[in-house]
Amino acid sequence: MSSINLKVIIIIKVEPKGKFISLDKNHRIGYYFESFLEILVNIAIASDHAGVDLKEKIIKLLDGMSIKVDDLGTDNKDPVDYPDYGIRVAEAVSDGKAGRGILVCGTGIGMSIVANKFPGVRAALCYDTFTAKISRLHNDSNVLVLGERVLDYKLALDIVKIWFKTDFEGGRHTRRVEKINEIEKRLMKKREVEEG
Ligand code: RB5
Repeated sequence: MSSINLKVIIIIKVEPKGKFISLDKNHRIGYYFESFLEILVNIAIASDHAGVDLKEKIIKLLDGMSIKVDDLGTDNKDPVDYPDYGIRVAEAVSDGKAGRGILVCGTGIGMSIVANKFPGVRAALCYDTFTAKISRLHNDSNVLVLGERVLDYKLALDIVKIWFKTDFEGGRHTRRVEKINEIEKRLMKKREVEEG
């Protein structure tokens, strides 16, 4: 009786974009593939008319990084009021519907003022890669704000890349971010008492 030898070859496919990153603040969970960001974190983005071109470029960039983005407008250059669009992203992050957000206006100043009114939002207005990186490492920024009239496109996209690739450092910075959360809780309680 003849016997058949079966050889099973298992091919392990390595994801080309599989750069390991840590998503856990305290480095407890370990490392995930970069493309897992798509599943774990929803990204919301919005701009006013002065930031609409940069917004489109950011969406394309994130698409290439396998990061899906929820575009909350505006979609053309007809003048709009930046608070109306800032609120969309800030509310999504504040309510936990989005893990992170990006806002673009002319200078970024108006959008950052709006976003930082919302509990749980830590919006960082960044004009360079250094501040973008530190805003993640030290402040655990969850909204990146950019000014299209102040940045050239290459720099703006470099800022976005580094902001996504940098983890919160935790440690002593956790205590400091926690203090911001305490301030928010105190102010909210005060308002509840005032409003009866
Ligand atoms: C719009 O002209 C401009 O004021 C706005 O995009 C932003 O720069 C506000 O901070």
